[in-house]
This record gives sequence, structure tokens and C-alpha cells, in this order.
Amino acid sequence: MNPYRRPAGWCEAPPDARLRILLLGASGFVGGGLWTYLAPRHEVVGTYATRPIPGLVRLDLRDEGRLAALAADGFDLVVHAAGLVPLEAAEADPALAHRLNVRPVEVLLDAVRGSGTKLLLLSSDNVFDGTRDRYEEADPRAPVNVYGRTKAAAEDLLLAEGGHLVVRIPLVFGRGPWANTFLARLAGPTTVARTDLVCAPVYLPSLGPALARLWHRTGVLHYGGSDVVTRFELMSRVRQALDLPTRVVAAEGEEARTACRRPPRLVLRSTRHRLLGPDLDSALAHLAGPNT
Ligand SMILES: NC(=O)c1ccc[n+]([C@@H]2O[C@H](COP(=O)([O-])OP(=O)(O)OC[C@H]3O[C@@H](n4cnc5c(N)ncnc54)[C@H](OP(=O)(O)O)[C@@H]3O)[C@@H](O)[C@H]2O)c1
Repeated sequence: MNPYRRPAGWCEAPPDARLRILLLGASGFVGGGLWTYLAPRHEVVGTYATRPIPGLVRLDLRDEGRLAALAADGFDLVVHAAGLVPLEAAEADPALAHRLNVRPVEVLLDAVRGSGTKLLLLSSDNVFDGTRDRYEEADPRAPVNVYGRTKAAAEDLLLAEGGHLVVRIPLVFGRGPWANTFLARLAGPTTVARTDLVCAPVYLPSLGPALARLWHRTGVLHYGGSDVVTRFELMSRVRQALDLPTRVVAAEGEEARTACRRPPRLVLRSTRHRLLGPDLDSALAHLAGPNT
């Protein structure tokens, strides 16, 4: 397969006006991928908290005055990809998870109210309990862990206000320009991956163009990956595609139990649009190619 080929399902956003965008969490894994896509096409101010990246500005979400002042600086769009993301960390400190994942959304809403600035909150499939075959936007949420509860609470704030957008995304895989939380799992001699967790993961480089196709919408949207796989299958296939020496060890049930409950099956599908991430074969060929 030609690695230069655009993966199937990889959409190109329609030519858009150049927007002024605030990207919160640009130093993160997902935020870095979004920065790569957005920065050449729009006027983007990106933020970091603890990992300084040249060109990004420092912001702690807990500095509410600074967050509000930044958000009120006349942006067309605020893409919110910052917060406490590791599920175990959120489970261990629910107050901190609320402080970083929920409270900043209140501050942002207050800051942009009436200004015409739109908020795009990146949310998660962890707002669901994972007992259904697939999840569409209107399906009832029932988070089983602290992280999922904070994402649901942040969604509620945004949706109560109206005029803004929540995009729920699943597990994201790929290589970020600076933060690589996904590939870090394959950095050691072995990695444990669960055979009893099913997902429809999304390839990072497809996310920016997909959001650019969707950000004129309001309410809740899902953006899921095309293929449904277990975590073990995903890690094994990424390991194989990149020819890494890491041994991927299958685990399930008791042996895989962690401090945090995880929904067993998370497949995001949309009734509001037709976009899906690229299929796994195309995404892995791209990931292994020279152009990532
Ligand atoms: N990764 C996934 O598979 C996935 C799946 C579904 C949804 N999401 C959502 O996507 C978003 C980004 O996730 P990610 O995987 O990119 O996480 P990540 O790599 O951990 O990045 C988190 C970002 O938040 C920033 N941040 C953390 N604490 C902060 C604070 N106190 N003040 C200001 N910024 C702070 C980090 O800055 P520093 O790094 O500079 O400290 C970083 O830029 C989150 O909303 C997450 O819920 C991710």
C-alpha cells in the first residue's frame, strides 16, 4: 500500500475562512495533532501547562482570571483539548478531575457569553457505560468512572448554554508532534493490552480535518473510527506496523483489573453526519510511512 495515499475516510475540510482559534491543550497528544492541522490554515493561539513548546503560550486552567481573559480575546473558536485525561489519575483525585475538566468550562462560558466566540469541547466515549453494541448521539449517558463523569458534567454545562459544540471521540491512536501518550505504551519491552475491551479508535491526523468539517454545527456530535477492534488487537497491529520489539501481552478479567472501571465496548456512531475515521489498514500504512 502506498503510504502517501490519503487513508480512506480521511476527509479534507472544505476551504474555510481563516479563523482565529484558541487551542487549549496544544501541548498534549490530541492537541498536538490538532495544532499540526490547524496552525498552517488558521491563526491559532495554542496553550501548554507543564510541557513548554516553542510558539505556545503558558496557561494553567486553574488560573481563572487568565483563562477568562485569554478566551475573551476575540476568537472565532475555542477548541478545548486540555484537562486531566489519564483515567487512573482522575479516579484517584475526583476533586482535581472536576477542577480541571469541569470548572474551566464554566469559566470559558462566562468569558465568551454574548461575544460570538464558539466553544468546541472535546469529550469522550467514556460518558457511556459500554453495554450497548454502539452509541449514537442521543443515547443515554451512564459513565462508570470519575473521568467519564467529569466529561458528562462538562458537556451538560456547554449544552445548557446552547450555540456551542461537543464532539465525543474514542481512543485516539497515532503519533503526535510532541506528546506521544499512545505510542509511549509500546515503548518498553512488554505492554499489557486487554482482550475484553472493544473500541473503534480514531487515527490522530484525521481528527483536525474532521473537526473542521463539523465545527459549524452545534449540540453533540460523535466522531468514531471505522474498524471495531479489541485493545489487544489494536496494540498488536500498531506494534507490527511499526516493527517494534515490544511484546504485547494479552490480558482480561481479573488479571487486567485496574483501579478504574472501564466500559467494555465503546463504538461511537453518528446519526447527524457521515464522517468516520480511516480504516485501520490505511491508518497504519500512513503511520508507518515517511510522512508522519
Ligand atoms: N487521547 C485519547 O484517546 C482521547 C480520547 C477521548 C477524548 N480525549 C479528549 O481529548 C482531550 C486531550 O486529550 P489528550 O489525550 O491529548 O491528553 P494529554 O496528552 O494528557 O493532554 C492534556 C492537555 O491538557 C493540558 N493540561 C493538563 N493540565 C492542565 C492545567 N492544569 N492547565 C492547563 N492545561 C492543562 C496539558 O498540558 P501540558 O502537557 O503542557 O501539561 C495538555 O496540553 C481531552 O479533553 C480528552 O478528554 C482524548
